[in-house]
Amino acid sequence: MASGDLQIGQASDADLDGILELQAANQADRGGSLSGSLPRARIAELMRQMPLIVARRGGRIAGFLMTGTKAVAADVPVVGAMLAAYPGGPDAYVYGPICVAAEERGQGLAPAMFAELRRRVPEREGILFIRRDNTASLRAHEKMGMHEVTHFHFDGSEFAVLAYIG
Ligand SMILES: CC(C)(COP(=O)(O)OP(=O)(O)OC[C@H]1O[C@@H](n2cnc3c(N)ncnc32)[C@H](O)[C@@H]1OP(=O)(O)O)[C@@H](O)C(=O)NCCC(=O)NCCS
Repeated sequence: MASGDLQIGQASDADLDGILELQAANQADRGGSLSGSLPRARIAELMRQMPLIVARRGGRIAGFLMTGTKAVAADVPVVGAMLAAYPGGPDAYVYGPICVAAEERGQGLAPAMFAELRRRVPEREGILFIRRDNTASLRAHEKMGMHEVTHFHFDGSEFAVLAYIG
């Protein structure tokens, strides 16, 4: 476990470097399981529209949870494929990606960031996809009370679509 106090809250521009570092460390080419990488300008745009939740420990980003409106998120091809499979209600938003630093996993950081998101965005439907072979993520999100609504195929992989009401 990393040392230092854990703080969970909404990201600001000062967190962008740490978010990008954690995102880069979790790409497939470094053995990670994130399904792609968003450029800085795109993350900054998402942050202006919907809350981006971060977990900070000792001045570092220990985790992030991004969200986006359907209109903005849909131009990422895999998100477009998810929304074609399950569009959700008119007010629904897209949850993810979520990422917790490897040394911080299994301690409830993901559910803690989700609780903070729900506090800030109550009673709205959230939609997300998880690659079928990402069992840690499926397990984490089922434990958070999300349920599978359908699935889709993209780029040779199967993805589960999960939804919840915040
Ligand atoms: C999925 C993820 C966000 C979960 O975050 P978390 O804070 O570890 O979540 P939790 O503490 O609730 O643990 C969830 C499950 O992860 C697994 N887990 C536990 N310790 C772990 C560790 N050290 N490393 C990996 N997975 C671990 C367990 O199955 C655990 O469930 P359990 O407590 O019932 O055994 C995190 O594993 C992660 O960032 N993974 C890499 C990026 C990713 O896959 N993002 C999701 C894309 S859809």
